[in-house]
Amino acid sequence: PDLAEFVRGLPKAELHLHLEGTLEPELKFRLAERNGIRLPERTVEEVRQTYRFHDLTSFLRVYYPAMQVLQQPRDFHDLAFEYLTRAHADGIRHVEMFFDPQAHTGRGVPFESVIGGYRSAIVQAHREFGISAELILCFLRDHSAEYAMATLMEALPYRDWIIGVGLDSDERGNPPRKFAAVFERARREGFLLTMHCDIDQPDSREHIRQALEEIGVDRLDHGTNIVEDERLVELVRAKGIGLTCCPVSNSFVTAQMKSDEIIGLLDRGLLVTLNSDDPAYFGAYAADNYLALEKHAGLDADRLVELARNSFRASWLTPARLDGYL
Ligand code: ADE
Ligand code: ZN
Repeated sequence: PDLAEFVRGLPKAELHLHLEGTLEPELKFRLAERNGIRLPERTVEEVRQTYRFHDLTSFLRVYYPAMQVLQQPRDFHDLAFEYLTRAHADGIRHVEMFFDPQAHTGRGVPFESVIGGYRSAIVQAHREFGISAELILCFLRDHSAEYAMATLMEALPYRDWIIGVGLDSDERGNPPRKFAAVFERARREGFLLTMHCDIDQPDSREHIRQALEEIGVDRLDHGTNIVEDERLVELVRAKGIGLTCCPVSNSFVTAQMKSDEIIGLLDRGLLVTLNSDDPAYFGAYAADNYLALEKHAGLDADRLVELARNSFRASWLTPARLDGYL
């Protein structure tokens, strides 16, 4: 059978997905109109023209301003529901999704509007097509630790709707250690922990070491740079830490998919998973990432199946629910 069909048909989990990164230009126009916002671009084509990135910083400069169209709870609902609908069609059975509350509260949108909209979409999507979804609250690492802590406090009333916390945005000069107290408190409050250790950042290996040894993360987002340090590879293996790799995203922010590194780590028995990161911006949802890596580096059916199984093994599903997928 057709390879694309095969990959779409594999039950998969998505573990590295930014909800704000699923804002397709068509929805952006609809929300702008609904909220009476004038956009600088006039057509979908013009919006796509702005999607030219050469590194993480140039991506983030396009990414954050686009979010201004998200204002009311139903805007956040529509964003998440459209994503979950696509994910379901793509063979995703379970998704653990990042959201950036500070990108919204920082411009006056109440925390409750953000999480309320996302939550109602999760409930509706589960009811309508059985997909399960969890939220991971990400702190913006280029803002202060105090602002992150205040955001964590704001999230506590909604703790039952949030499975874990993460760290994203511009990594340069913003090491995991900067947020040690925030993550320690989050752990005590019962949240699972993950962090972006983005591709080829300055001090990548030291940041990964801090995330693993000082913060004690339960997962690593990207984290592919462990290949440069045998000790880190062994640490990740010993702790059973999952890596959420994003090949197409890598090709946008570093001009390389990092396929040799990703497949090398997989072949060494690490818990490597494939994910989409910001699919509306990088033009590739989950199955497209499997197919892109296959096309670029060649993956036999066994490895594609192993990657799909890893996505559940590295997830935060409870053992009972995990059983149903393995
Ligand atoms: N925010 C959205 N996508 C991101 C990424 N890949 N790295 C850091 N911050 C992000
Ligand atoms: Zn990411």
